[in-house]
Amino acid sequence: MDQFHSDALVFFGATGDLAYKKIFPALQAMIKRGHLTVPIIGVAKAGWTLDQLRARAKDSLEKHGGIDAAAFAKLSASLRYVDGDYKDPATFQAVYKELGGAQRPAHYLAIPPVLFGPVVEQLVNSGCAKGARVIVEKPFGSNLATADELNQILLGAFDEPHIFRIDHYLGKRPVNNMLVFRFANAFMESFWNRNYIESVQITMAEDFGVQGRGAFYDQTGTIRDVIQNHLFQVLCNLAMEPPVRTDSESIRDEKVKVLKAIPPLNEKNLVRGQFRDYRKEKGVAPNSQVETFAALRLDVNTWRWKGVPFYIRAGKCLPVTCTEVIGRFRLPPTVIRSSSLTKNHLRFRISPEVSIALGMTVMAPGEEMVGQAAEMLASRHPQTDEMDAYERVLGDAMAGDATLFARQDYVDEAWRIVDPVLEKTTPVYEYEPGTWGPAEVRQTVEPEGGWVNPALTPQPAVADAVGAA
Ligand code: BG6
Repeated sequence: MDQFHSDALVFFGATGDLAYKKIFPALQAMIKRGHLTVPIIGVAKAGWTLDQLRARAKDSLEKHGGIDAAAFAKLSASLRYVDGDYKDPATFQAVYKELGGAQRPAHYLAIPPVLFGPVVEQLVNSGCAKGARVIVEKPFGSNLATADELNQILLGAFDEPHIFRIDHYLGKRPVNNMLVFRFANAFMESFWNRNYIESVQITMAEDFGVQGRGAFYDQTGTIRDVIQNHLFQVLCNLAMEPPVRTDSESIRDEKVKVLKAIPPLNEKNLVRGQFRDYRKEKGVAPNSQVETFAALRLDVNTWRWKGVPFYIRAGKCLPVTCTEVIGRFRLPPTVIRSSSLTKNHLRFRISPEVSIALGMTVMAPGEEMVGQAAEMLASRHPQTDEMDAYERVLGDAMAGDATLFARQDYVDEAWRIVDPVLEKTTPVYEYEPGTWGPAEVRQTVEPEGGWVNPALTPQPAVADAVGAA
């Protein structure tokens, strides 16, 4: 890890949607914690002044998390603004001037990928790339070929250790908690493998639609939007081997090994869906074949997991908003009536609240030797005063810690797995908003014992968890 902390933050796309929803709140939070004390230079082509950018930041914070008077005052004072075209050298000369001799600036490209090329070229020509880090947003390409093109552009100007590819899911504490839980508990190792686990399922459900992002979404679809990146990261955390050291490369090496062990997705193991009336959304083609839901099955052919199917499903307009993993155990060779047994499970809930739970069978009340399902909760807490994912990833990038970022080989492997289905026109089945996707899922990609649909009913407190499922 490069030990130098970035001494300036430049963010391109300062007047855009991402800055409004995520970046300003993250910057204010970083300042509040004392983690950000360097100049912040917003760049955009909007014909704005610095005061307009400050007003935008204020508005953003009012809508997303609230204003902290002291931190906002510091944010306002640290903000600079450069207005100009991304292809115009004068824009970058102005950025260079604002950098005021910074030795290790971080350039955050919160802009559409088509602009990466021109911006990187200008960063180099103007001298702004010297000693710098670059932070890029997803989507990182739209398939393997375009991701490679983007990588070539970035690697032409920056070394890999100075490139930070954001996947904000990696900034989520519960996603990292999965690794801590796996590698800090001796008992996990005894069952978290093909000998005991029958299947693993990952559900990322959202109860809302495309929220005005129709034009973006219709170029993207569920597989590119959240599966190839966010949910593959979750899968890697579930399936990887313990890293031999805790440095960023040792951890990222293990993740890449998981992806390498996954054969390309076969179209027979995929069901795509589209919620009714998606085509009426602004920016969506009237005959769109883009999926707003996908369910798929992958094999992870490692020593630990060969033969254990991994199922992933994600979608918009589903009944709840929740991301959850279920690892389902095989049945024991018991003499107890199997009709009264439920298979054990390990449940990791990533959102809306964080929980880790073990599903088991206990004896039902009464005289008969029958079982009843119960869940033992190891940890359950709401996501409250935690660092937001964006705050964490921006802070880490500026500190030069690459652990929570996708490395080039990871991105390539992730695209390799989904590339075959992106090129094919598999059917898109309509589903009713508020349901768990098209009925075809149940015929084609359903784990043995079925999908577990996360229910958001309040869970019992830890003390009375057993016997309460
Ligand atoms: C984004 C996707 O990357 O992640 C969105 O583009 C999705 O479509 C979002 O809603 C989910 O992230 P979070 O942090 O809100 O769960």
